[in-house]
This record gives sequence, structure tokens and C-alpha cells, in this order.
Amino acid sequence: MSDIQEKVKELMGYREQARLGGGQKRIDSQHKKGKKTARERIKLLLDEGSFEEFDMFVKHRCNNFGLEEETYFGDGVVTGYGTINGRQVYVFSQDFTVFGGSLSETFAAKICKVMDMAMKNGAPVIGINDSGGARIQEGVNSLSGYTEIFQRNILASGVIPQISAIFGPCAGGAVYSPALTDFILMSKGSSYMFVTGPKVVKTVTGEDVTQEQLGGASIHAAKSGVAHFVSETEEEGIEMLRKLLSFLPSNNMEDAPVAACTDAIDRMEDVLNDIIPDNPNKPYNVLDVIHAVVDGGDFLESQAKFAPNIVTGFARFGGQSVGIIANQPKFLAGVLDINASRKAARFVRFCDAFNIPIVTFVDVPGFLPGTAQEYGGIIIHGAKLLFAYGEATVPKVTVILRKAYGGAYCVMSSKHLRGDINYAWPTAEIAVMGPKGATEVLSSKEIAAIEDEQKKAEFIAQKEEEYRDKFANPYVAARFGYIDDIIEPRNTRFRIARALQSLANKRLANPPKKHSNIPL
Ligand code: COA
Repeated sequence: MSDIQEKVKELMGYREQARLGGGQKRIDSQHKKGKKTARERIKLLLDEGSFEEFDMFVKHRCNNFGLEEETYFGDGVVTGYGTINGRQVYVFSQDFTVFGGSLSETFAAKICKVMDMAMKNGAPVIGINDSGGARIQEGVNSLSGYTEIFQRNILASGVIPQISAIFGPCAGGAVYSPALTDFILMSKGSSYMFVTGPKVVKTVTGEDVTQEQLGGASIHAAKSGVAHFVSETEEEGIEMLRKLLSFLPSNNMEDAPVAACTDAIDRMEDVLNDIIPDNPNKPYNVLDVIHAVVDGGDFLESQAKFAPNIVTGFARFGGQSVGIIANQPKFLAGVLDINASRKAARFVRFCDAFNIPIVTFVDVPGFLPGTAQEYGGIIIHGAKLLFAYGEATVPKVTVILRKAYGGAYCVMSSKHLRGDINYAWPTAEIAVMGPKGATEVLSSKEIAAIEDEQKKAEFIAQKEEEYRDKFANPYVAARFGYIDDIIEPRNTRFRIARALQSLANKRLANPPKKHSNIPL
């Protein structure tokens, strides 16, 4: 064997060793838990053969607790770049088989390297998390490593999309890098996220909770809203990540992607002419409206289980990727509360940061009343959504389907918040409040003066009817130009698609400033 052949053989041997991470035994144990290895996950995520790995030969530099005797090529994280549907992305995938995927100084440096490259080259970063947290033996060097990552997350926010998948433990300081990214996906069963684990919780608060109850995928999907997407399996999760990427530009200087579209933009949907129930208090499912109007009925919903009274997600009109926000009358009558406002505000800001046009469907009876909401700061949280819409400079197309009452009318991408094209269905009711509330306020003295219950009811009904005729329709708003047109529901897809086309070259900038001061 020649010298060079010897050296190539040695290289191949080292590579083989690196690919085994913490060794076959630990790989088997990972598989036994129903989990994939760091490399298997990358292989599934990226286009076949596209992965280029960095820093395979990095080893830790720690001499504490005999760690110098135990080193592994790669040091517990696999990093590099590749493509997803032909578009470049940077990835890191934590390897639980090496010191439980715990984060060392060198591990962090590897992640920082791909983040820096992603920023320089304007490509998204996808991080796959499966880690026991800070590498205990490395002390403050591990903490400094985390913080270096956080700092990069912060600077990359709004410049390149950052997406986190959680496929194992993610606890303590480790949660904050995903929290700083744009989207978090968790797989059911094997992933959990918490700031302090069940043992510490028990010591401090006396509460008995399991890992799953404290920070499992379902909890973060429905209760905390930390997880935007939840998958049954890792494979399904990775497929969702690939799909999510298809709606996003690679960086904030790019336009949102336009895909090939086979669905006619002038497709009529007759069912929409009958979707609004005659009784204004009867709900319907706004997802039916969304599915009917977007390309191929394809809608990727984000935070589906959290604050279901508002719907957020991605879809396309004529191939143009858009973010959709819609009040959901099926839950809490589509009211705006703290969680709905926070959820939608973050989504609007994401779309705005990445040049993704926003389509809003409005059917909102107002803000949720009550002490729980007021004490919880609905004033500040509601203001987040107001702020997000008002600050957004991307194309904004709005359709009022039914109710648009009071402050919630102003908030939901109204004309006055620089809504570009605002449509209403003939079923729209745009007013300061609903007929019932308005009658109670305007006619309270007259109502109190009527003693006969039958007559009182008739009087209230008559006043409500008068109010409905005067205000609970779209024509008053249209008369003032606050609504650009009243459209036939079945024609909604075409009108939105055309509106978006007309706004394709929109240019609008906010005044120069260091940054705004959104109510937090
Ligand atoms: N630092 C160094 N090594 C760690 C580690 C950490 N934070 N977390 C796990 N490991 C090592 C374990 O020593 C074990 O090593 P081995 O393969 O040589 O035996 C390996 O990773 C796997 O850990 P193990 O505890 O056997 O796995 P598990 O699936 O039973 O439990 C955790 C996973 C994450 C719940 C558990 O490892 C844990 O609690 N880790 C500490 C979490 C923590 O407090 N981190 C610091 C705060 S940020």
C-alpha cells in the first residue's frame, strides 16, 4: 500500500469512528427508546447526498473528572450544510450517544460556526435538539458556550429563519436557544422541554409531576404554546420541517417563495355563499373557509392547539406563499384574549420580517372580558397584535367574514393599520359592539321603565333590529372607504389572489429607528 493509500485508509477509519458517535451500544440504546441518531435525522431531513459535514474531528479540551481519558470525534454534535428541496440550509444535530448530547465549549463552537456561516450566506438554520444540557464537567465553559449560541440566535432573528426540532431532552439553559428561534417542533413521547425538571419542582413547590406532564409535546402544544408543531414520530416531524421551509424565503432580503400552481386562481367555491349561519351567534369552522380558498386546500397550521380561537399558518394563493391569520368562531366565538393576541402577534411579526404577505380573515366579537384577562394584562397583550399589524409593511389583504366589533375591528388588519386591500362579505357586521350590547347601553333607561316583561322583550328586539339595520352590515364602513369592496363569498379565492398580485411590488418602510418598543 502506498503512503497516500495508507493515509486515505486512516482517514476512512477515523470517519467510520466519528460516525459511530458514542459507540454502537449507545446507538442501540437510542434506537431502543424509539429515537433516531443525530446522523439518521440529518439524512432524513436533507436531500439525498447533499450533506456536507464540518468539524468531524473536533474533540473536547476538558481535563476535569478524568474527561481527558474519554474523547469522541465530533464531540456530541453533527454540523454542516445541505439542501432541502434544492435550497441550502445549515444544520446541527445533537448526538445523545456522546455524553448524553451535553453541550461543551467545543460543541458550542461547532454550532456557532454553522450559525455564522448561515448568516453570511443567508440560509436558514435548523437545530435538532436531544441533549442532557450543559456538560457538567466543563462548568462555566459550557455556560459560555450556550450564551454564545443565544447571542447568535438573537442577531440572526429576523435575518434568517431559525427552526428548532426537539427530539429528546431539552432542559435548563438548553431551552433558551430554541425559545429564541422562530419555530419549535416537538415529537410526541420522546421529547420534553422545561427550565427545571420534576425533581427540582418537587423540592421547590412540592408538586408531583412527570417529565411528560411538565414539558411533553402535548403540554407545550396546548398549554404553554411553546411548541408550534407537534409530530407523532420523528419522521413525520422532519417531513413537517421540510414543508415549513417550502413557505419561507432563505433570508430577509429574499421575497417569499412562489411555487408552481396548478389550482386555478379563479376557482369559485359555491359552499362559501352558505357558510355563514343565519343566526349570528352560531359558530362555523373558519378552517373550512381557509381550505376552500387556498391553493389545493393545503394549509400548514402553526400552534393549532394553543389559543384555538385564532388560527395561524402558511398557505399559497396562485403559488404565492402567504401567512394566514383568522379568528376562529368555533372556539370562544373567535374572541381575542391574551393567548390569541400573543400567538397571532408573533406570527404577524415573523411574516413581516420575512416578506411573507399576510391574509387575514376576520370574525371577531371583541376582546374577552373578565378579571382573569384584565389582571393578566390583556391591555398589553392585545396591544402586541395591534402593534404587530400596524408595524407590518408586507402586503396585507383582509376579508371581514362576519363580526368585526370594537377595538378588535381596529386590530385585525383594518384599513387604518395600513391594510392594503380590505374586503368584506355581505354578511359582515362592522360596529362598535354587537346589537345586544349596544341596545343595553343606548336604551337602558327606556328598557328599565317598561314593567311588562313581554313588552320589554319586544322593545329590546325592536331596538336591536334598528341597530342591526343601521350598523351591523358592511355598507357603513364601505361608504367611508374603510372597506375597498364587498365581495361575493364564493369569489373570495380569486379576489384575494388578484389583490396579492397587485401588491407584489409593494414598497413601504417604517421611519428609521434603532428598534421599536413593542409592549412586551
Ligand atoms: N453532562 C455530562 N454528561 C451527561 C449529562 C450532562 N449534563 N447528561 C447526561 N450525561 C451523560 C450521562 O452521564 C450518560 O453517560 P454514559 O453514557 O457514559 O453513561 C449519558 O449522558 C446518558 O445519560 P443518562 O442519564 O444515562 O440518560 P437518560 O436517558 O437516563 O437521562 C437525562 C437523560 C437528560 C434526563 C439525564 O442524563 C440528566 O438528568 N442529565 C442531567 C441534566 C442536567 O441537569 N443538565 C444540566 C443543566 S443545563
